[in-house]
Amino acid sequence: MSEAKRLAAEKALEYVQRDMIVGVGTGSTVAYFIDGLAKLPFPIKAAVSSSEQSTAQLKKHGIEVIELNHAGTLELYVDGADECDGNKNLIKGGGAALTREKIIAEASRQFVCIIDPSKQVPVLGTFPLPVEVIPMARSLVARQILERTGGQPVWRMGTTTDNGNQILDVHNLVITDPVALERELNQIPGVVCVGLFARRKADVVIVGGTPPQVL
Ligand code: A5P
Repeated sequence: MSEAKRLAAEKALEYVQRDMIVGVGTGSTVAYFIDGLAKLPFPIKAAVSSSEQSTAQLKKHGIEVIELNHAGTLELYVDGADECDGNKNLIKGGGAALTREKIIAEASRQFVCIIDPSKQVPVLGTFPLPVEVIPMARSLVARQILERTGGQPVWRMGTTTDNGNQILDVHNLVITDPVALERELNQIPGVVCVGLFARRKADVVIVGGTPPQVL
């Protein structure tokens, strides 16, 4: 799959323009994109990064990383996903970076999602849905998720997010109405972020292959 990820990331480089401030996601597909950014024949102005992991890789390549608060609206955000349905709704957060990813997606005019073909699904939910929670609310949120959705929340033990929070992975969901589920879970006190990207979904999905598919 890593070749498919590389091909998707390479195609996404076509969306990058000289002197842009580029929003950069997190994960193994984005890692190829960051390597590609460093090899572009023109400079970008800076990057806004969604994780410490991506920040480190960007800086290693000498790409300036600036805070979103200093960047305003971004023209472009490029990120991977854990699942993608036919309407470009996504599950994200397998790498625990969902909150910053969702913030940057919201701040961007165009969200280009780069995936390998294994991420394409007819209905979201086979990949357990990550939910970032305030640590003191973890059990409360888990009970409410079970009650409201029937899904089984599992604490991702040993993981602390870049924001100092914890992750519940919700198993056995069949997400036929992603916008409604995102809204419902966002209501629970203690939920910081739901890894469903439906209200603000991808604008463009690039599926790696020869040639890459642009959806
Ligand atoms: C990070 O929290 C996730 O949202 C990533 O976008 C996702 O896990 C990326 O998957 P890959 O590592 O397969 O690109």
